[in-house]
Amino acid sequence: MTFLVATLITEGKAKQLYTTENEEVVRVHYLNQATALNGKRKESVAEKGLVNNEIDSLIFNYLNESGIKTHFIEKISASDQLVYKMQMVPLEVVIRNFASGSFQKKFQVAYLKPFDRPVHEYYLKSDALDDPFINESQIQALALATPADLAVISRLAEQVNMALRQLFAKIDIDLVDFKLEFGKTPDGEIRVADEISPDSCRLVDQETHQSLDKDVFRHRSGDVMSGYRTVLDRLLAVLN
Ligand code: C5P
Repeated sequence: MTFLVATLITEGKAKQLYTTENEEVVRVHYLNQATALNGKRKESVAEKGLVNNEIDSLIFNYLNESGIKTHFIEKISASDQLVYKMQMVPLEVVIRNFASGSFQKKFQVAYLKPFDRPVHEYYLKSDALDDPFINESQIQALALATPADLAVISRLAEQVNMALRQLFAKIDIDLVDFKLEFGKTPDGEIRVADEISPDSCRLVDQETHQSLDKDVFRHRSGDVMSGYRTVLDRLLAVLN
């Protein structure tokens, strides 16, 4: 497959999407870019695109092999991968296993307080509105997803959480929380889409509680890439 005629479809905070010769397939190009505060703070970070492409590809491959439906096809170069073109559901689904981030701040609970059952939250994907929290009845009112779609999304999110908690436990990492996005194939099947990487997950070392994710960039607390490389090295030791 050649990409000479590729057209840029859209550019997000850390990725670009290009057309391919197959209209059902798009190419994702990972950028060396880190953002915080919903894109208001943006910095270039060397090698981030390569590392995130590799981590995301390992994770999505693992989910595909675990029988969970995703958009992912294959990694085709250091910074690029092919995925199925999806009609995206305009929601961000956050799953939490331990208290951190906005939950910890909102409810003033202890950092990393474990939850008996994972917390599911929905946010409307809207830069203009700063991705506001949205509940299921508001999702119905705005016709963003049907109750049947939401049931599938919620079940898929649970399956991803179980699969990833097990995977990360093998490499001594707790999956604190993460964000998923979903899309629909042309025949209406809902699949896990977008990205799963230390940009979209909170990952802490089980022993030291050291953050190995974007919190290091958000809080300017050290070298963000050192945590991302630790995650990649540990994943490579158990996958492939
Ligand atoms: O900030 P908050 O605690 O709500 O984030 C929960 C999880 O969702 C974190 O892992 C964060 O990285 C992820 N997230 C994301 N993109 C957003 C908002 C949150 O990847 N726009």
